[in-house]
Amino acid sequence: MTLTERPEPTPAGNDVLVQVHASGFTPDELSWPSSWTDRLDRDRTPSVPGHELAGVVTALGYGTAGLSVGQRVFGLTDWTRDGTLAEYTAVEARNLAPLPGDVDFSVGASLPISGLTAWQGLFEHGRLQAGQSVLVHGSAGGVGSMVTQLASEAGAYVIGTGRAGSRRTALDFGAQEFVDLESDALEDVGGVDLVFDVFGGDIGRRSAGLVKEGGILVSIAGPVEARPVGGLAIDFVVESDRRQLAEIVQRVRSGRLRTNIGTVVPLDDAVAALNPTAHVRGKTVIRVRP
Ligand SMILES: NC(=O)c1ccc[n+]([C@@H]2O[C@H](COP(=O)([O-])OP(=O)(O)OC[C@H]3O[C@@H](n4cnc5c(N)ncnc54)[C@H](OP(=O)(O)O)[C@@H]3O)[C@@H](O)[C@H]2O)c1
Repeated sequence: MTLTERPEPTPAGNDVLVQVHASGFTPDELSWPSSWTDRLDRDRTPSVPGHELAGVVTALGYGTAGLSVGQRVFGLTDWTRDGTLAEYTAVEARNLAPLPGDVDFSVGASLPISGLTAWQGLFEHGRLQAGQSVLVHGSAGGVGSMVTQLASEAGAYVIGTGRAGSRRTALDFGAQEFVDLESDALEDVGGVDLVFDVFGGDIGRRSAGLVKEGGILVSIAGPVEARPVGGLAIDFVVESDRRQLAEIVQRVRSGRLRTNIGTVVPLDDAVAALNPTAHVRGKTVIRVRP
């Protein structure tokens, strides 16, 4: 992986060209086939990583509607196209939403994956209702902290999990209880209406047994390996959604939702940020333009 000069991309039909101000990435995205090939499995290297952005629209592709040149935007880009760790990127307009003028670009770039994943897992796939109980794995992490806050706001009882050192953070984000997965017994949680699993494996399998009759296990960690008896199991991959992005950013503006940014680094340090030598807590944002 290297930082290099490449031509500015050309926006295709229904695309916008975005001047990227801040960008987000997923630590394990270099292991995804979609980082190296297109939809037809054709090699697309050298590829540009990163799929979250906040920036300003500088050009429209043929037929593009709904966004205009000069507009501030943020969103989640296509997994199989060149991404957002770049000064400019071409993105389908439908993957973006307006970024209000009082929301910093770094904050905007930190929201799409964790915010949309939390929203879709809780409200679309998990069908969360007020008064239900939710077990949120990795509740101090990027996705888990959003899940915890959105579920609490929706009137759910939230039980967070993680390592002992994450207890304070999880409770600060709104979890009512915390299970230290390294020393507490997960099974002591009893029955819950919804499990939001970010781990899979052994934790995912054991969590299926905690789902009440009629409840749902939602996983973002790949295919579910154990299904709840009398409940549903759903795994999904996050998709962009303009209306949901708008809901998320409105909550950030009104102080109802806090993003979980750990580090902000310039584009010159993006290669090192994607290959960290030490453990990173919270989301890393690449500030492409100062
Ligand atoms: N399917 C999808 O659409 C989708 C979308 C977004 C993310 N994901 C995936 O979901 C996972 C979580 O993403 P994220 O951004 O939330 O990651 P993250 O910010 O690293 O959060 C993970 C959290 O889980 C904790 N944790 C990790 N391993 C643990 C263990 N063995 N025991 C207890 N706690 C543990 C971490 O604590 P420490 O900091 O102490 O390690 C951290 O608080 C990633 O694998 C990501 O690729 C999938």
